[in-house]
Amino acid sequence: MVDYATMFSRALPRAVATPEGANVPVKYIFSVTNAVPEVIDSDEYLTAIRAGLETGGPQSLAAYPPAGGHGGLRELVAERLANNRGFTASPDDVFISDGAGGAITILLESFINPGDPVLVEEFTYMGSLRMMLERGAEPIHVPSDEDGMLPDALEDALASLERAGRRAKFVWTIPVYQNPLGFSVSVGRKRALLDVAQRYGVPVLENESYADFRIDGEPLPTAFSGLSDQGDVIYVSSFTKLLGCGLRVGFGVLPPGVKEALPQVNSENLPRRGVSHLATMMVYEYMREHEAEHIEAVRQALLVRRDAMLEALEQNFPSFCDWTHPTGGMLVFVRLPEGADTWATLQKAVERDVKYNPGGVFRADRGRNNYFRLTYSHNSPDEIREGVGRLAELFREKGYFEG
Ligand SMILES: Cc1ncc(COP(=O)(O)O)c(C=O)c1O
Repeated sequence: MVDYATMFSRALPRAVATPEGANVPVKYIFSVTNAVPEVIDSDEYLTAIRAGLETGGPQSLAAYPPAGGHGGLRELVAERLANNRGFTASPDDVFISDGAGGAITILLESFINPGDPVLVEEFTYMGSLRMMLERGAEPIHVPSDEDGMLPDALEDALASLERAGRRAKFVWTIPVYQNPLGFSVSVGRKRALLDVAQRYGVPVLENESYADFRIDGEPLPTAFSGLSDQGDVIYVSSFTKLLGCGLRVGFGVLPPGVKEALPQVNSENLPRRGVSHLATMMVYEYMREHEAEHIEAVRQALLVRRDAMLEALEQNFPSFCDWTHPTGGMLVFVRLPEGADTWATLQKAVERDVKYNPGGVFRADRGRNNYFRLTYSHNSPDEIREGVGRLAELFREKGYFEG
């Protein structure tokens, strides 16, 4: 018998604490920002695949994809960024990746050494946080308000690192419909944060994975990338949550100095990991034909789900708990009284067929578990009402509603 346990690489990622129950399948899935299922039109997706194959011919699948990925899709991305996000990027600076997560993995692999500080928001997306922790980075949470990181707090953190002879690798931000805090950072706050980051020579990484998910809020402010001409902002985003998590197509926009240094992105001969050229063809053809109507269908589906979730919270949770009221995106962040422990309670919720994310998964120290996040993109409005009711019942039994 081969004893594989003795053979694994010493370079495997470090173990990161995960709450019990996190990997159990359930019916009421409030723990993942899945794409909305009913807006996925299989016939139109098949038509897009056919169009992609007919345009590209057999050679488009016989060969490895070009450096940076599908040329048409890179042009489409650049056009959308100019139209929707207020900045000009050359298609040559865009690279197609396996989701935003794929772009983030390449960037973390390329920049992070164990012990490197990365400045993140007070709570931040658990996937990239986990990748940072697995690589031994030191995510430092910067206190934030409803407009993003506080510039003075960012300055304090950078100054304190400087005094210790250290420099952060990135100011790492999710500036639109932040996951999990829900805010969108204003242009004024972005300028203030950029000013601080520039004074300390630290690049900004902005993850705009939710930029297509405005429900009924104000139009989104210009991206950080549109506010600096210094080549010090890196941009990542994704089609995943718009068109389907199973497609896993995302992208990054890199300043020239970065792109040239990354063989995963610019080598013709290196088969790029993860991203399927067939999926990128489909995304390109489908977006060309259906972008506006698809985004509108997603908006309408998210609107009724969000309203169902907010109503269910209103009806089932006491008024001394509070929660965000998102105008875009697909998640609500809830605060329970101090002492509630949503990390410990997840397993019990899973036994009732409901899953959420405890606040601690968005924190490097795994703390602040009187908070938790609910997502509303996956289940129907009726299921959302039922699932939130079940959760409230559990939290009441646990004594979390005793104020
Ligand atoms: C902020 C943020 N970034 C990135 C991702 C991962 O995106 P993708 O599936 O495109 O890799 C997620 C998924 O939840 C997310 O919330």
